[in-house]
Amino acid sequence: MTEPTKNITVTGATGLIGRQLVPLLRSRGHSVTAASRDSGVDLLTGQGLDEALADAGVVIDVINSATPEDSAEAFFRQTAASLSAAAAKAGVGHYVVLSIVGVEAMAPKAGYIRGKLAQENAAATSEVPWTVLRATQFHELAEPITESLIVGDEVRAPAALIQPIDSAEVTAILARVAVNEPLNTIHNVGGPQKMSFSDMARAVLRRQSRTLNVLDDPSATYSGLNIDETTLVTDDAAELGTTRLVDWLARR
Ligand SMILES: NC(=O)c1ccc[n+]([C@@H]2O[C@H](COP(=O)([O-])OP(=O)(O)OC[C@H]3O[C@@H](n4cnc5c(N)ncnc54)[C@H](OP(=O)(O)O)[C@@H]3O)[C@@H](O)[C@H]2O)c1
Repeated sequence: MTEPTKNITVTGATGLIGRQLVPLLRSRGHSVTAASRDSGVDLLTGQGLDEALADAGVVIDVINSATPEDSAEAFFRQTAASLSAAAAKAGVGHYVVLSIVGVEAMAPKAGYIRGKLAQENAAATSEVPWTVLRATQFHELAEPITESLIVGDEVRAPAALIQPIDSAEVTAILARVAVNEPLNTIHNVGGPQKMSFSDMARAVLRRQSRTLNVLDDPSATYSGLNIDETTLVTDDAAELGTTRLVDWLARR
């Protein structure tokens, strides 16, 4: 059965997820307003927001902060407050936010993550029915994370698990969730494999034909955060992607 078409506004439309999501939704017949500062919509100032939400049945927030860690919290607080108020005013029927698995555990330690929680809460406490999709780290992050763990001529990996997922699969799940009935709760999605940071680094280095020594280092952090073994991975109820990191790396 063909799904009913909707008017959907995507904020953050030019980003990694937004630029995959907009054409995917359009290919299914939905009418999409692609909002970013390029198109005259600034969620920090609110400029262009009411116009971008006029007639929207669904809004999907995949905005991201380009500001440093200490101002990212304020960025998400302010942009989400503007968006939730504008969505309620416009009578939007479904408010969808893309967030990150493990935000509660990491929030006390990082401004960016506190900002993501504030972004989630803005949806959950708004007048608009909502869904928060929490995803694990995208495959695109495996290389930069590995690079960030290099100290001298070795990789010092946190003693923790990570569960990378293809951003295209996150996009597809987001597109499905957004056109379905609001869940009014959090839906977790993760990659097909939970692996140690050291195994992720070895996969990346193998693909790059580099031969650095990889060590598990209990004092190593993830972007400056001390994380527990399971902070970044999903529980058993989560929806899983199918593309393994090694296969994704191999086709790059
Ligand atoms: N990376 C991961 O592994 C991961 C995992 C789970 C969830 N997430 C979440 O996924 C979301 C999307 O990430 P992404 O990588 O697709 O982001 P991204 O590539 O950094 O794109 C950010 C988007 O936000 C827009 N933007 C920034 N400031 C704006 C403003 N003031 N007003 C309006 N638009 C603004 C940008 O467009 P302009 O600059 O043109 O305005 C761009 O379209 C993020 O919220 C992130 O937390 C990421």
